[in-house]
Amino acid sequence: MVKRYKIGIIKGDGIGPEIIDEAIKVLDALSVTMDLNIEYSEMLLGGSAIDETGVPLPKETIDGVRECDAVLFGAIGGPKWDNLPRELRPESGLLKLREVMGTFANLRPAIVYDELIDASTLKPEVIKGVDIMVVRELTGGIYFGQPREMSGERAFNTMAYTKEEVERIARVAFDIAMKRDRRVCSVDKANVLEVSQFWRDIVTDIAQSEYPEIELTHMYVDNASMQLIRNPKQFDVILTSNIFGDILSDEASMLSGSIGLLPSASIGKGVGLYEPIHGSAPDIAGQGIANPLATISSLSMLLKYALGEDEASLKIDNAIKKALEQGYRTADLSAYGAKEVCSSTEMGNVIASLVSRS
Ligand code: IPM
Ligand code: MN
Repeated sequence: MVKRYKIGIIKGDGIGPEIIDEAIKVLDALSVTMDLNIEYSEMLLGGSAIDETGVPLPKETIDGVRECDAVLFGAIGGPKWDNLPRELRPESGLLKLREVMGTFANLRPAIVYDELIDASTLKPEVIKGVDIMVVRELTGGIYFGQPREMSGERAFNTMAYTKEEVERIARVAFDIAMKRDRRVCSVDKANVLEVSQFWRDIVTDIAQSEYPEIELTHMYVDNASMQLIRNPKQFDVILTSNIFGDILSDEASMLSGSIGLLPSASIGKGVGLYEPIHGSAPDIAGQGIANPLATISSLSMLLKYALGEDEASLKIDNAIKKALEQGYRTADLSAYGAKEVCSSTEMGNVIASLVSRS
């Protein structure tokens, strides 16, 4: 039986449109082999939305995402919009979208592909086999806390969490860990911040009362940032707050050598948002050289987490591994085992043809 899905598409700015087009190509190829009927619904966000409508998050997008089964998103931002007032910048549109969609959990896997082990700045023996999932709280903490202010003499933000916010993100991390190695490291700054002590106590309670099989540890964020580089294999799932997760997930991405490879999923109350973790890379936009694999990998997460299409998701993961094994590389990774350096479009073609044949 044909399964029907409505997928929201937000191409965004910079390399966003180029990489999303490759992911769509892969999804089209999959729909044929897997008997899926996909309806696409394109929406605006960020700089392109500002140019067309005057605001970074138009009402049509807020209404539009609600009607989708999931949203695939490229990237936003660029120098063109950097000098606008804060509330009109592309980033504000993305933060607001996360808020209105209620996507409170951001999943950022950091996986090291064996074929690219030399692309990392770290020694191969340190990173071989790394497979970490960072679970970042995404709609609370200092990003959203009130009051916040900047005046002539003083500026401040507020790092706040409610019990409910901590409980629900902890459950997401524990549920994910149950399907992995059952180890969660919760990262905070409880030696200094009340909000972190609160976080730590609640995470501990949830683990004890609901997840007895989970091995829970706690780590201060300064130590965690050091341990991630020193011995990343010690981590399975890292659970942390909005701003710590922002920082640690960038750091974790570099274990893999290229930020062009890693996907993310933002999930929560309803429709989820799936996006590569790299940004809009305005410096290389329009040249056809961007690596589409992080976006294609985000599509794989979308199929798995939003649609429950595990088989289709696995087909994509396997196709990416196979393409790397066969030596296909975009320009960012051309120095690491390339047998064929390809453009974004060529890489999309390779993955699409591999999923069609699998
Ligand atoms: C990210 C980005 C965003 C964030 C910015 C663009 C608002 O850095 O998704 O990690 O800080 O959350
Ligand atoms: Mn970030």
